[in-house]
Amino acid sequence: MSVLPDTAVVEDGRLCVGGTALADLAREHGTPLHVYDEATLRARARAYREALAAYPGSARAVYACKANATVGLLRVLVQEGMGMDVASEGELAHALAAGAPPEGLVVHGNNKSDDDVRAAVAAGAGLLVVDHLEELDQVDGIAAAEGREQPVLLRATPGIEADTHAKIQTGHAASKFGMAPGDLERAIARAAACRHLRLDGLHVHLGSQIRDLGTYLAAVEWLARFEPAARLPVLDLGGGLAIPYTDEDDVPDLDAAVTATATAVAGRFDPLPELVLEPGRSVVGTCGVTLYTVGAVKRTAAGITYVAVDGGMSDNPRPVLYGARYQAWIADRADAEPDGAYAVAGKHCESGDVLIERAPLPAPRPGDVLVVAATGAYAASMASTYNALPRAAAVLVAAGGARTIVRRETVGDLLALQV
Ligand code: LLP
Repeated sequence: MSVLPDTAVVEDGRLCVGGTALADLAREHGTPLHVYDEATLRARARAYREALAAYPGSARAVYACKANATVGLLRVLVQEGMGMDVASEGELAHALAAGAPPEGLVVHGNNKSDDDVRAAVAAGAGLLVVDHLEELDQVDGIAAAEGREQPVLLRATPGIEADTHAKIQTGHAASKFGMAPGDLERAIARAAACRHLRLDGLHVHLGSQIRDLGTYLAAVEWLARFEPAARLPVLDLGGGLAIPYTDEDDVPDLDAAVTATATAVAGRFDPLPELVLEPGRSVVGTCGVTLYTVGAVKRTAAGITYVAVDGGMSDNPRPVLYGARYQAWIADRADAEPDGAYAVAGKHCESGDVLIERAPLPAPRPGDVLVVAATGAYAASMASTYNALPRAAAVLVAAGGARTIVRRETVGDLLALQV
């Protein structure tokens, strides 16, 4: 599995995605620019659909909007039949703007405001995942006021450490998410007394960028042993499947991962629950690349050559937050041999603002377009405007055409918020 979108090819040294040369997109739309490949997006949605079809019960994949809530992408995923996992009133509004059917919505959050809950209940969200005991009363009260019965899942914290960066583990005993087994049992009893809630099942999400399928199997095993889970009709195993960020990254195949998980559930539960998965990164991650323009190139006394680009930690905070590693190309010399390893730095006023510490590249020059791969997930959605840098634009490419789906923010937009 490549770190580039499925349609990536090199033609006369030019890296092209969706039939369009990336350097041309940079010239036309400016940089930094997020480029998303529609074919890759559809292929990942289809891969989930097909892998889940092998589950003997009913099963569905719900896309985790936090990975990238760009409405133009959500629209494609809605067309592909994916439900939407939303974690705030804002994400809910993005999903609805993309035409997501309310019954396919799964609503999350470890600290939902009354507005978050009201918006979800009023929209008719198919499932709301209750994070802690008191939230049962909050949701029950709001559902009563809205005159609805709200189907809910309870989020379990099984105390399993996922094989990933500590900051993106969520199922360990010290996690801020979900309920410990004792609270979970209390919540099951309490939910039965809430007249405007319907308890449909349990939810577990162990973490993100998970490479070891054993992590999912441990979750299934834990749930199978948690006796009250067997009586409930829905089992939601969250998201978390890893993607490759560099060619050296070894990650499980999507189909094999989903099949292994579905097989484990089928083998351990009788009757079979409806199986829900909430993939984010593995749907959008490799459909996106980010384009930058190279500015300053300079060598330090310590022997590091910095290649500075016109974005950085504001459009992709992952290297700073998690030590995430990325791979880069020069858009118009994509097949040229690297002549050394360069440090790709952002333009922010922080020494830590380095996107790639050692990128093998062919002598980058000012004006070159630099392509960083696998930026479809958790880059745009975690963007900031640090140093008052307006946020990047985004285009969707398909069959030789590119369409703007997010216009570039302007300094005027930033100033417009200042009162
Ligand atoms: N479901 C729940 C309840 C979640 O909290 C998440 C992610 C997902 C599904 C989707 O997980 P995915 O398939 O995308 O791994 N900013 C971090 C990732 C944080 C993930 C938060 N929750 C990063 O850039 O690595």
